[in-house]
Amino acid sequence: MEDALYDRIGHGYRATRRTDPRLAQLIWNGLGDAETVLNVGAGSGAYEPPGRSVCALEPYAVMIAQRPLGAARAVQGRAEALPFDDGSFDAVMAVLSDHHWRERQQGLRELRRVARRRVVLFNADPAEANLFWLTAEYLPGFLDLIPLPYRAAGAWQYELERLLGPVRRVPAPIPHDCLDGFYGAFWRRPAAYLDASVRAGISVFAALDAVDVDDAVRELRADLRSGRWDKRHRNLCDRSDLHLGYYVAIAELGQ
Ligand SMILES: C[S@@+](CC[C@H](N)C(=O)[O-])C[C@H]1O[C@@H](n2cnc3c(N)ncnc32)[C@H](O)[C@@H]1O
Repeated sequence: MEDALYDRIGHGYRATRRTDPRLAQLIWNGLGDAETVLNVGAGSGAYEPPGRSVCALEPYAVMIAQRPLGAARAVQGRAEALPFDDGSFDAVMAVLSDHHWRERQQGLRELRRVARRRVVLFNADPAEANLFWLTAEYLPGFLDLIPLPYRAAGAWQYELERLLGPVRRVPAPIPHDCLDGFYGAFWRRPAAYLDASVRAGISVFAALDAVDVDDAVRELRADLRSGRWDKRHRNLCDRSDLHLGYYVAIAELGQ
């Protein structure tokens, strides 16, 4: 992804990006008994756990400015060079962030270095990107954004385990009414993707070719009008959640 992406697209992030309580619970379960937590790529602070001592790390002032009053203190910096001593926090978490890091492996090494007990990531397995109808049917260009080494099944897990040690992955099915408007959030509310303000809160759309996005939106709009989308995806309509390849990945250190 582009280096200063969030400087460009981060304004107004909180308009569509909020904590979803069901996903929050999965992430907080992953933090276990950690009392001190570092949130890397913290953005506006969604998913920071209550009742623990939290420090946030975020590179972009645009994002830090959107942290609500009373949010944990934020340090400006990058995952690749964390300004903290070894073992400074019981747990280090990163939510929907590591795919943005310029040097993902270096960032993961840093997470491990400053964590005493565990590292907790929430993200999508890139090799499962095709599970989502929006990608498979309308935006195949999304698949080209995935760096080659991550396209094979098991590659993400392999990299995490190489850098963090054994990793337990907990599937995170996305609720049909997910409150956090990330890429997979609207799988049962397809008309949301026609809304430019929804797309503005999703970095994938900024990373894709604008012509491809326009074409995809036009095609989806036509399919929704004609009933083609409903016919193809009738099976989704009574589902309350759906697995789209998102996981909470938990590395217990020192095992
Ligand atoms: C999709 S947002 C997620 C924000 C927040 N974790 C959340 O769940 O709402 C991705 C975040 O990663 C941050 N980010 C991008 N590059 C980074 C880097 N090299 N190190 C740390 N964070 C980075 C972005 O600035 C942005 O705040």
